[in-house]
Amino acid sequence: MKFFVDTADINEIRDLAATGLLDGVTTNPSLVAKTGKEFVPLIREICAAVPGPVSAEVGATEFEPMLEEGRYLATLAPNIAVKVPLTPAGLKVCKALGGGGTMVNVTLCFSSAQAILAAKAGAAFVSPFVGRLDDIGEDGMGLIAEICQVYMAQGMETEVLVASVRHPRHVVEGARLGAQVATIPPGILRQLFQHPLTDKGLAQFVADWRKSGQKILPAGVEPLKALA
Ligand code: G3P
Repeated sequence: MKFFVDTADINEIRDLAATGLLDGVTTNPSLVAKTGKEFVPLIREICAAVPGPVSAEVGATEFEPMLEEGRYLATLAPNIAVKVPLTPAGLKVCKALGGGGTMVNVTLCFSSAQAILAAKAGAAFVSPFVGRLDDIGEDGMGLIAEICQVYMAQGMETEVLVASVRHPRHVVEGARLGAQVATIPPGILRQLFQHPLTDKGLAQFVADWRKSGQKILPAGVEPLKALA
């Protein structure tokens, strides 16, 4: 499963990219607004910080202005995925941009019927918002299961991008169901590393190792030379 980080905060992005485990970034107008930064230079900066797809969302809602914005966004960097809303105009733009080789992420997906339309429009990614469905008492992961099943049955190549992730179980369940990508807020991405038994076990190993007085590197060998 690919991990994207769901933020427009360049410091968070750089920090998480340094783990070597980050495959891309998703932004949306709300996340960009939170940074207080100018959109286009910020997107350029993010695209330079990660090799994988960076979703940048259009602002327009009508077909022609949306297409114009999408075409412009696609010129910003080779790793841009233009993000469009799951509306008739958005899907028309998806089809037009996808035909020209641009990656498109169709966002605000809340049903399997919508996901089928996104695939038919040639989307590289479809983003079902699992957390927002859970918030209103619906079953976000049930939607992921159904979309994965439909895409598999139909041989549809659009990647299922689990979005609106609220906790690590959304990520694990998405992986189990066969979703190719999860976009994860930075705090939750860091939570994935954590387990209290890992901390407890490591503290014990460190204490016992110190007590043993042993060393792994031979005397006189500097750490970096030992790696060569
Ligand atoms: O970026 C799209 C999606 O992940 C937003 O999530 O937390 O605003 O529902 P959220």
